[in-house]
Amino acid sequence: MEQSVLKDLGKFEVEPKFAYLWDRCVYEMHYNVPKYVDELCAAFAEYNITKESQILDTCAGSGFPALDMYAIGYKNITCVDASEDQIELFNAKAEAKGLDVRSEKCLWEDLPAHFDPEQFKALICKSSIWYAGGGWNKDVEITKESTLKALRDTLSAFYSLLAKGGVLYLDKFKDSEVDHKDTVGVFEVDGKKKELIFWTNRDKEAGIRRAKMIIKDVETGVEDGLPNVTYDLKEEELEEMLHEVGFSVVKPEMSEEKFFTPWLAIKNT
Ligand SMILES: C[S@@+](CC[C@H](N)C(=O)[O-])C[C@H]1O[C@@H](n2cnc3c(N)ncnc32)[C@H](O)[C@@H]1O
Repeated sequence: MEQSVLKDLGKFEVEPKFAYLWDRCVYEMHYNVPKYVDELCAAFAEYNITKESQILDTCAGSGFPALDMYAIGYKNITCVDASEDQIELFNAKAEAKGLDVRSEKCLWEDLPAHFDPEQFKALICKSSIWYAGGGWNKDVEITKESTLKALRDTLSAFYSLLAKGGVLYLDKFKDSEVDHKDTVGVFEVDGKKKELIFWTNRDKEAGIRRAKMIIKDVETGVEDGLPNVTYDLKEEELEEMLHEVGFSVVKPEMSEEKFFTPWLAIKNT
């Protein structure tokens, strides 16, 4: 989705970190965050998830949406993530806003060792589940088999943490996503003009999806960015796996979720 007017992200002395740029994109370009949070909370409310419920954001990133939910009164939110840079930014934002919540490091595979079985009424896994097999911010070898096994283990871990009647929100890039390379913003580092580019590519034959946030030096044309590489997971495969693990599945109405297909996965028994 090429933007007609590029977002001016400002001037920096040193190159901003990935987590910071992702945060600016989420909050200033991709989402109307208050509207998205309203829709998510309304979907949760259908399953009696309230401001008092115990909620775990399993990949809280720089705060979207857990920090925003905390700010409007969901005070029992626990936040974890895999990446130091995301955790650092989450905690800096929380501190700056005077919010008494912090994120800490925990990988999905380690969640059952960190928390009690059935501890949570809701889990959030936003914009991330396809990284269950690895490949977040690194170039790794990916196979369908290893990814589906890791996905099953991750979803089973999520299932074990949910109380009966509890709900997991998750989403995935759309099956219909087409390859794109879009310049979304401009900024300056030490006086040098840079462009921020979003790029995705799906190699249908190999069944691999690659995605990158690229920083381009406008003068030299040199492009750089952290790789993200995963199995090109299909919506049907994810739904099947959710069922296998024991969830029933519904698709919530979330008009503000334009990039990903959202699901609520419910633990009935
Ligand atoms: C695209 S970001 C989404 C962050 C946030 N949920 C959002 O929507 O802005 C993906 C996040 O998944 C996290 N992640 C990837 N693999 C993970 C794993 N195995 N365990 C926990 N977090 C993971 C990354 O550290 C990163 O913060």
